[in-house]
Amino acid sequence: MSKDQINLNKLPKHIAIIMDGNGRWAKEKGKFRIFGHQNGVKAVREVSEGCAELGVEYLTLYAFSTENWSRPKIEVNALMTLLVKTIKSETQTLMKNGIKLDAIGDRTTLPAECLKELDEAINATKDNTRMTLILALSYSAKWDIVNATRTIAQKALNGEIAIEDVNEELIDRTLTTHKYPHPELMIRTSGELRISNFLLWEIAYSELYFTTVLWPDYRKEQLYEAILEYQSRERRFGKTSEQLV
Ligand code: FPP
Repeated sequence: MSKDQINLNKLPKHIAIIMDGNGRWAKEKGKFRIFGHQNGVKAVREVSEGCAELGVEYLTLYAFSTENWSRPKIEVNALMTLLVKTIKSETQTLMKNGIKLDAIGDRTTLPAECLKELDEAINATKDNTRMTLILALSYSAKWDIVNATRTIAQKALNGEIAIEDVNEELIDRTLTTHKYPHPELMIRTSGELRISNFLLWEIAYSELYFTTVLWPDYRKEQLYEAILEYQSRERRFGKTSEQLV
């Protein structure tokens, strides 16, 4: 398996990843869970670089879910500190690699320090065009859908739209993911076979790829494997094979 086997004309434009297994990785080594998160940063770096090198345009990483707030406070705090530190220390690398940073999720729940570093990095990298790295922070798909529904309902109440104007396109435009195409490929590590409230609307026709590799062990090699598997699948979007030719 190597990078050369990948057909660069058939790349997914957008890959979304559920980075899972940090805690188990640490436990296997007799360490605290945060040790797993710290080692997960290396995988984030590798996969971002790997995607940018290939020409993938958007990479969305599930870094912290709405549900993650209910983890023990010590882990939540350690994760937030790690996020702030990583965003700060990686900005230079993002610049060097031409990567633009963005975020989706409930900004109102993020600690001030985290928001500050995030906004600084988003602003510093805003003119980069090689790839966009989107961090899902305090994000859940249901949260996004509820918010979008409220916005649309308010517009209807204000008389700005009619009920008949509510369609897929309007919902798409109202979600926080509206700036980006839907991911063609979603990857989850660590052997769990769930979506866990990630991009539910946007993955309607995504190819799903699951691997047992724990996130801190995830490297470019594993990314290439997922892309090759994606390229071997036939995407029919509800049509028959014959209709595709
Ligand atoms: C899931 O593993 C991982 C997370 C909830 C956090 C992911 C965060 C990082 C990789 C740190 C830095 C990220 C960025 C983008 C700078 P888990 O804790 O659920 O593992 P488990 O299922 O084995 O318990």
